[in-house]
Amino acid sequence: MARILRERRDGVLLLRLNRPDKLNAIDAEMLGELCAALEDARVDDAVRVVVLTGNERAFSAGADIDGFAGVTVEELATSRSDLPQWDTIRRFPKPLIAAVSGYVFGGGLELALACDIVVAAQGARFAAPEIKIGLIPGAGGTQLLARRFGKYRAMELVLTGREFSAEEAERWGLVNLIVPAEEYLERALELAQQIAQYPPAAVRAAKAAIVTGLEMPLDAALRFERELFLRVFATPEAQEAIQRFLERRRAKQQAG
Ligand code: COA
Repeated sequence: MARILRERRDGVLLLRLNRPDKLNAIDAEMLGELCAALEDARVDDAVRVVVLTGNERAFSAGADIDGFAGVTVEELATSRSDLPQWDTIRRFPKPLIAAVSGYVFGGGLELALACDIVVAAQGARFAAPEIKIGLIPGAGGTQLLARRFGKYRAMELVLTGREFSAEEAERWGLVNLIVPAEEYLERALELAQQIAQYPPAAVRAAKAAIVTGLEMPLDAALRFERELFLRVFATPEAQEAIQRFLERRRAKQQAG
């Protein structure tokens, strides 16, 4: 059974984590299939936005703990390292929208943190519970939580492993909107459709400016933003849209 189900809806690709009997625990197969799907989406011009979801009970309960059995630390650090795959997800250049419900734990939380917009179903439950099994988040959790929530909140969540609600996640800036459970996927898809209709060069530039800019000192980030602005300014899509706007206004002035 495929671990990642792919579904195309016009310019939007829906990727569904598909290991329902294990609450979508992320194993090597799932991560591999997810990265393959994202790589296909990256080079396919018809895909403008990707929505990543699970099912109502779980977005994902995190890394597959069964997969840790019998693995040596040397293997984890070398042949079985999944660091490049997490980099692939984090560096995906088109907008990535997470539509989450149920458990968003551990690696599931890290997946949501790697996305650009998070739509949560009412009742979604978040946690970085790794400490409870003597681990720490290893796929970006400590860094992205600290950058998103600040040091003290991240420290509390990572050191206690406590659950937090969709409302808390929204208040702290991880969740964009909370919607009734039966609507969360539709709302995420609507948002994706809206973004998918805009010129792709501008959409990619906007994402790059925000994501990459956040990792730079402000001065360099502002220059990077300007460089991207100039690049999209030169695209036919932007030039045509500006012309259309000016012509519409001229026509209105002549009519009035
Ligand atoms: N890895 C492997 N299997 C997992 C899993 C994980 N991270 N999370 C859940 N599962 C499996 C369970 O073992 C169970 O399998 P089984 O039916 O074959 O026994 C199935 O998914 C359902 O989970 P269950 O624990 O029965 O559901 P629950 O609703 O009672 O509890 C959780 C849900 C999320 C609280 C609980 O499953 C849990 O604590 N999971 C681990 C979360 C975690 O620590 N993630 C970080 C890993 S580093």
